[in-house]
Amino acid sequence: MKKMIMIPKTKIIKPKVLYYGTPVILLTTWNEDETVNISPISSSWVLGDCIVLGIGLGGKAIENLERHPECVINVPNPSLWENVEKLAPFTGKNPVPENKKENGFTYAKDKYNVSELTPIDSVSVKPSRIIECPLQIEASVRNIRIPDYSPNFAIVETQAIHIHAHNEIIIGENHIDPNKWSPLIYNFRHYFGLGNELGKTFRSET
Ligand SMILES: Cc1cc2nc3c(=O)[nH]c(=O)nc-3n(C[C@H](O)[C@H](O)[C@H](O)COP(=O)(O)O)c2cc1C
Repeated sequence: MKKMIMIPKTKIIKPKVLYYGTPVILLTTWNEDETVNISPISSSWVLGDCIVLGIGLGGKAIENLERHPECVINVPNPSLWENVEKLAPFTGKNPVPENKKENGFTYAKDKYNVSELTPIDSVSVKPSRIIECPLQIEASVRNIRIPDYSPNFAIVETQAIHIHAHNEIIIGENHIDPNKWSPLIYNFRHYFGLGNELGKTFRSET
């Protein structure tokens, strides 16, 4: 017998933002004076050792990556959301670009101080890792592309070099325990953790 489905009613909308729920990362990059900048970013995806980031032009992160093609992709858990939010109104750009000024941004030089997070040296890249983030991925920039249909952001391709994980979230030698690890999710400008596990895919090894 044919299954009956209820078709949900839909409406075409024009949302101002389309942040439909992706993990927050704290991107550390290398400033021209050999200090480190931290930028909260939610536009990223991973396949193999390739991590692609969506980074707005006019901010400090992209300026730094163009000059020095290394970064650390620090991944906070939900307990760090207030540290992330402390960074939210600041840019490492001085002077602050007009469009950022209009959106309430001010300049901050020492983002570690602002966020009350702690640096630790990386193994192979210049920008430091953030101790409090359970995952810290040292990466090198492989390609930066500005799409011709949108001149406001860059698609930054990076390649992971070292993946540091807090011992507490590791299971066996080389796996992350999904019962111990939870990303911080940016969901239409609100912060969330994960809910309870629903199940796992046929290829899961944990
Ligand atoms: C949770 C969160 C997620 C964000 N995601 C992005 C993003 O994916 N890409 C981006 O360019 N900016 C994103 N932003 C805005 C940047 O953090 C902001 O542009 C800031 O100026 C970056 O700092 P910087 O100029 O020192 O690099 C996000 C901000 C917050 C708080």
